[in-house]
Amino acid sequence: MTVSKSVLLKQLPTDLDRDRLPNHVAVIMDGNGRWAKRQGLQRIMGHRRGVDTLKNILRCCKDWGISALTAYAFSTENWGRPSEEVEFLMMLFERVLRRELAEMIEEDVRIRFVGNLAGLPQSLQAEIERSMTATKDNRSVQFTIATNYGGRQEILHACRAIATQVQQGKIDPERVDEELFERHLYTKGLPSPDLLIRTSGEMRISNFLLWQLAYAEIYVTQTAWPDFDREEFHAALRAYQNRDRRFGKVKV
Ligand code: FPP
Repeated sequence: MTVSKSVLLKQLPTDLDRDRLPNHVAVIMDGNGRWAKRQGLQRIMGHRRGVDTLKNILRCCKDWGISALTAYAFSTENWGRPSEEVEFLMMLFERVLRRELAEMIEEDVRIRFVGNLAGLPQSLQAEIERSMTATKDNRSVQFTIATNYGGRQEILHACRAIATQVQQGKIDPERVDEELFERHLYTKGLPSPDLLIRTSGEMRISNFLLWQLAYAEIYVTQTAWPDFDREEFHAALRAYQNRDRRFGKVKV
């Protein structure tokens, strides 16, 4: 009988140190379109497969004890894609949310969406609201999906909110520090990511979590997102544990 690798990797691999796992992993799920083209399929099939990958990595976080996963699903710039692809993605998000919600509740996953949610189709907004409310007390993994998200826009949104409160005399400008600023970001309450994984080879951040990624370790793999499996995630975590995180300081 052959045992698949993913079954073998149900437990935390023994070469990883449980005490030095990242608390929070962020992923830029790139390469869906190119993956599909290589298989002779339409680009949207890559996104469909990408959902399976995301589910697998989320489950892996739960199995291995990683408490937060944030995925970049749709950027503010992605509206510039062909309208059929954008429409497909909106429909896919909605359908996946509807289909997976019961399991997310059972698995104790907290779902959160970040981004300019008001700019999404009404029916998707309703599904997002429903899933966030239904899972708000869940604790095993905080699963955040960045949709209609832009890092610069998020920072401007926080600036505007703080400026308004300063104008109203509710905040003393001298008290605007990092902690207060973070409380005005979409990701309020989430720790900053320790590790950013980008699939499909591009070496850029693409307007993702610009504030929050300040000290994240960056891992880029050539593997396209639909092929990113537990073995690949294991390799990323191994690379992370071999990094020397100094946060701008020197080792004594
Ligand atoms: C980037 O690949 C991928 C996206 C823009 C979409 C990713 C979305 C999902 C995997 C669905 C997630 C669903 C939910 C509900 C959370 P690309 O199209 O840019 O690939 P390419 O660079 O090869 O063209």
